[in-house]
Amino acid sequence: MAKQSQATWGGRFSSAPAELMLRFSESVSFDARLAPFDIAGSKAHSAMLAHVGLITEAERDAIHRGLAEIEREIGEGRFTWSMQLEDVHMNIEQALTRRVAAAAKLHTARSRNDQVATDMRLWFKHACGTLSEKLRGAQRALLAMAEREGSVLIPGYTHLQRAQPVPLAHHLLAWMEMLNRDVHRFEAVHDQANWCPLGSGAIAGTTLPIDREFTARALGFVDERGRARVTQNSMDTVADRDVFIAFATACATAGVHFSRIAEDLILWSSVEFKFIELPDAFCTGSSLMPQKKNPDSCELLRGKSARLQGNLHTLLTLVKGLPLTYNRDLQEDKPPVFDSYDQMAICADVLAGTLEGTQVNRHRCEEAVRDPLLLATDLADYLVMQGVPFREAHHAVGAVVKLAEVNNVRLDQLSTESVREVHPKFGNDWAQVFDLKRAMAMRKGTGMPGPAQVKKQLVRWRRTLTP
Ligand code: ARG
Repeated sequence: MAKQSQATWGGRFSSAPAELMLRFSESVSFDARLAPFDIAGSKAHSAMLAHVGLITEAERDAIHRGLAEIEREIGEGRFTWSMQLEDVHMNIEQALTRRVAAAAKLHTARSRNDQVATDMRLWFKHACGTLSEKLRGAQRALLAMAEREGSVLIPGYTHLQRAQPVPLAHHLLAWMEMLNRDVHRFEAVHDQANWCPLGSGAIAGTTLPIDREFTARALGFVDERGRARVTQNSMDTVADRDVFIAFATACATAGVHFSRIAEDLILWSSVEFKFIELPDAFCTGSSLMPQKKNPDSCELLRGKSARLQGNLHTLLTLVKGLPLTYNRDLQEDKPPVFDSYDQMAICADVLAGTLEGTQVNRHRCEEAVRDPLLLATDLADYLVMQGVPFREAHHAVGAVVKLAEVNNVRLDQLSTESVREVHPKFGNDWAQVFDLKRAMAMRKGTGMPGPAQVKKQLVRWRRTLTP
């Protein structure tokens, strides 16, 4: 007789899979990390089976004891994972079978298809919680930097050309808003994951009298009022990978934010700007050029965003064109989301660490922001306040800028007579516009960079981010 398969599905087979096939098809090398969620799922499922009378309470208790023991062994690194058993689900079930006779009843009214969907939804809820916390950590580092150094003014840029002055805090709080949307995105993914697949079976549920709501409640798949949330179509449940895509999207978007933040930091740390000094602990040197200090943490944050986008693309391509319902292709759904999670987690920590150690070169910032051209728009606003239509004011200030350029003087050094020749509405007080403090104080509206506004925003963030 041919060798029997060790797998749980071996009954209809006369020979075991080829060694090559096992190596090709196993997933335990990457899905073993689902063990705590798989065990939680099995505990809830067996509790439900006992609740409806499909197993006895003694059988349930034996299963629970066995699972707890296995969980302990896994936690302590004493568990032997076997590639022959394909995946995390079969490894755990087989280990349980070796210790507990009742384990043979555990898979009643369950398929690996709804099992893996459940494990992953539990994992996503956990992953979103962890990443939100890590993003909060990066936000706290950002807030600390804004409170510490934020009052200094820097030029804000459009097209990477100097545009208008802003307090450094205003720029940092722009990053804060980006990261906050990421936190909300992970919270939304958490909510999307919060539906229990168990009971969908392989594709068409089960003939057995199970209680899906019981299992859902036991696993915490509940709404804000504690009511069970169970998926509504068994075929969709085992085919659906939308949460994977939503999670990878959240990671890719946060990755893009990290990348843009990193790019600003890289620019600011260059000799050409020198607004900041990045911490040595997050930079490296050159093997050839002794003078170099390279902003590697920021460059890697920028680079990792490519990888996060790649993972999203992998998932979209994986499900595109797949017929309903489960297909083994879907096993490939896990490496990209696990990778996105791992990279996101470390990126958030690295961003926080980099910001914590960043020093601001106030002198260089002040020097850069002293350029009166940054207030050319304010000069146009001045004319508007004298009743000049904005288009006309814009044109007149353009002519004044040109005049300064031609005469090779700073904009604020032009004589009142010469600017009045350009436009008669320039009064004796025209040069007051170049008082930076005054210019900033005039920006009072919500979302603007005036000191009162920025202070209000800092207070708001302090409140939001204080646990
Ligand atoms: N390891 C599998 C996966 O991750 C578990 C589900 C297997 N289901 C099946 N019908 N072969 O997709």
